[in-house]
Amino acid sequence: MTLEVIILAAGQGTRMKSDLPKVLHPVAGRPMLAHVIDTAEKLGPAAIHVVVGHGAGNVQAALADYTVNWVLQDQQLGTGHAVLTALPAVGEDSAVLVLFGDVPLINPDSLRDLVDGAQVGPALLTAILDDPSGYGRIVRDGIGQLLGVVEHKDASDEQLAIREINTGVLASPARLLRQYLPQVGNNNAQGEYYLPDILGLAAGDGREIATTQVTSELEIMGINDRLQLNRVERAYQRQLADKLLQQGVHLADASRLDIRGELICGKDVQIDVNLVVEGRVVLGDGVSVGPNCVLQNVEVGDGSDILPMSVIQDAVIGRACSIGPYARLRPGARLAEGAKVGNFVEVKNAHIGAGSKANHLTYIGDTEMGEGVNIGAGTITCNYDGAHKHKTEIGDGVFVGSNSTLVAPLNIEKGGFVAAGSTVTRGVGEDELAVSRSKQRNIQGWKRPEKEQK
Ligand code: UD1
Ligand code: CA
Repeated sequence: MTLEVIILAAGQGTRMKSDLPKVLHPVAGRPMLAHVIDTAEKLGPAAIHVVVGHGAGNVQAALADYTVNWVLQDQQLGTGHAVLTALPAVGEDSAVLVLFGDVPLINPDSLRDLVDGAQVGPALLTAILDDPSGYGRIVRDGIGQLLGVVEHKDASDEQLAIREINTGVLASPARLLRQYLPQVGNNNAQGEYYLPDILGLAAGDGREIATTQVTSELEIMGINDRLQLNRVERAYQRQLADKLLQQGVHLADASRLDIRGELICGKDVQIDVNLVVEGRVVLGDGVSVGPNCVLQNVEVGDGSDILPMSVIQDAVIGRACSIGPYARLRPGARLAEGAKVGNFVEVKNAHIGAGSKANHLTYIGDTEMGEGVNIGAGTITCNYDGAHKHKTEIGDGVFVGSNSTLVAPLNIEKGGFVAAGSTVTRGVGEDELAVSRSKQRNIQGWKRPEKEQK
């Protein structure tokens, strides 16, 4: 039987109290719906149908990279209505797996049994929770057969005490969805067409409903408000941190690390508190990261140290480098082995050669720098003339004195020397000294200004 997945993502998510459609709120830096589509893809379905409605344009734009079939549900009349809206696009003999866009961390491994079960009849993923409030409750008969699902808002006191809940994940032959969904009514507390009502109808026809229970609470947590969003985020982050610890990464505090992307670590990596990782970050063997750093799409070579408060984006750092504290590496920063970028130094689209140093208060932009260069404190490459960006070339072994202004385009050749405080506008030849500053005058016998006496 062919498998097709329907993901429900049309609801507004009123309880988020946000202009952003609920399914676009990020979990670990990505829209929660993206997590669900990834999971669906891992099951290798013939098609993924995503039902959108509230903020449909925004949702489609945010997830434009995915190949899915978008289905528009104009009015959000309930989860049953949403599936019914998608059904015409589903093949006659397919098995359908329904996932919710607001249950983001469901694991593909927990879905396979369910999908197999759906070849014959409806199957539901349930869970037993200590606090089932908010979820639909699973009602069973004396011998444990599923009779139906009762929504929290429709449940009697007795039913509210049931701790087995509907995770929202349901699978069924398309044929049975076509048979039962049109029979579902909306005579309930929310005036909605409930998808799980098909289970009651099928059970009433004497059909057996297969259920699978998941044990991990995190996987099935639905997100309806910001409290739940935060709970999912923190639990997920903790899981990612625990995996790093198991891999042998040293974390100063597993609860003070946020991975919004992917963090790949070598051996003996040390990470201090409050690291934020975005995109793909690779830390080589023996790398240490100080407190309060932000790393976004960064590769760091073996033995390099990222000192506290550094912000690094789209950069490649070689082996045995030292960055920060308070360094900012912007896109296109490339540091060769042993380079040093110190405090309050900004580097953008620049190559810093092996062993070269810019230790303090400097801006290096659009620069190609050789090896063993020393850049003095307060040096600025003036790469922008107000209209265009220009390049600065600095050869091996160049020494740039403090507080120098290097006006690009500029080439300082190998061994060149720039005297402190110079504004350099013309190229400097090999081993030449460039001095460009006004001569010092010392005036003897001058009088300091004095305050007037009253
Ligand atoms: C739903 C289930 C409940 C289950 C819980 C699990 C129903 C009636 N209830 O409740 O049994 O315990 O999920 O988290 O199914 N949606 C649409 N179109 C609509 C309505 C909803 O696409 O017309 C989407 C929403 O965007 C959301 C998902 O379906 O992604 C679930 O809807 P929601 O309103 O959050 O249902 P719950 O009250 O959480
Ligand atoms: Ca929900």
